[in-house]
Parts: sequence; structure tokens; C-alpha cells
Amino acid sequence: MGSYILNIGVLASGRGSNFQAIIDSIESGYLKARIVVLITDNPEAYALERAKRHGIPYLVIKPKEFSDKDSYYSHIAKELKARNVGLVVLAGFMRVVGRAIIKEFPNKIMNIHPALLPSFPGFHGQKQAVDYDVKISGCTVHFVDEGVDTGPIIIQSAVPVYHDDTEESLSERILKQEHKIFPFAIKLFSEGRISVEGRKVIVNADRDESVIINPKVG
Ligand code: GRF
Repeated sequence: MGSYILNIGVLASGRGSNFQAIIDSIESGYLKARIVVLITDNPEAYALERAKRHGIPYLVIKPKEFSDKDSYYSHIAKELKARNVGLVVLAGFMRVVGRAIIKEFPNKIMNIHPALLPSFPGFHGQKQAVDYDVKISGCTVHFVDEGVDTGPIIIQSAVPVYHDDTEESLSERILKQEHKIFPFAIKLFSEGRISVEGRKVIVNADRDESVIINPKVG
């Protein structure tokens, strides 16, 4: 006991503010895990700067260098396996990941989505919420399956949507919650407090542990 530490592999395509929230959670001691690699499909991703700044190894792996989706994701899975990754974290990875990686990491790939799934999957979840004029939106951490944002839901956090919200103002409100619930979900995983039965995810945590709205907690 005591010496096990979760190895995390992060996939990100852009700004990487969720990646940063995970780094900060580890550096502050909130999350006992280590990020063993950042993989990006985008050589311009600001996430790369964050990796460099924090001494995290990184790889740029571009899909156009592979013949098809299967070989792309097999290669990424191989890189992750080579580093003994126990959890793959999609932190703004702007692609629908393929079967080749999902089968290697069943219920071991987490994604954050900026809406309350199953509402508003896919791109621009915040804009979809503003356009639909829902009164509550939020974010969802879920395990990744082969669909688009359809995998088992781990935790969600809700925020109000105001009549004068824009995509930007709602995104900003949701992002603050993303930065809380993503590290929290990873922490729960790292402590073995998440179990999955089909599409049901049972989280073993105290109800007052955070702002998270999850009827299955506790
Ligand atoms: C976040 O809104 C996340 O929910 C979505 O992509 C965005 C990534 O932002 N999947 P960042 O790169 O983590 O700042």
C-alpha cells in the first residue's frame, strides 16, 4: 500500500486550461497522480507551452501522418501503454477518438463536455445552450465510448443561464466549474472511488465534498 500512483496521459488540442487545472491540482497536493505525457494533434496548441513550463513530456502526433483513424489511435494507445498510463484524460481534445484507443482503455478515458449531457453534445455546447435558451446548463465529466459524448456520466455541475448571456459569457461561467469537477473526478478515480456497471457510474464520495450535483453520490 501507499506507493501506487496513477499515471495520467492527457490529450489536448488547444488552450489547455483544463490541463492546467489538473497540473495545479497535482502540484498543490490535492490530486495524487502524475502526468506522464501530453499528446496533442496540434503543434500550435498552447497546452504545449504549459507542458514545457511544468516539465511534462509531450508528443505532437498529427492524424495526417497516418493512413487512417485506426492506425492513428493505435499509435497513440501504444505511446500511452508504453508509459503505463492508467487514465487517459481528454482535456479539450477536439476529435472523436477511435475504437483503437477505447478498446485499450475501457472506462479509463475521461472527457469533459461543456453542457449537461445528454443535452447539447458535440461542438459548441455553450452556444447550443444559449441558442436554445435553456435556463440551466453546466458541464459533464464522462467516460468515453464510441459515440459522441454518449459515455457513462461520472459527475456534472450546473450553472444558471441568463437572458443576456452570450456564448462567451456562458463559456466563462461553465469553465470555472470545469476546472473544479475535472480534477475532482480524476481524484475520485485515482482513489478507486468510481465503479461502473453498464452505463451506471457509482461514485463513493461525501455529499458536501463539492458543488457537484450528482444524485448517486453518498
Ligand atoms: C472546454 O470547454 C471543454 O469542456 C471542451 O473544450 C474546452 C477546452 O478548453 N471539451 P481548454 O483547452 O481546457 O482550455
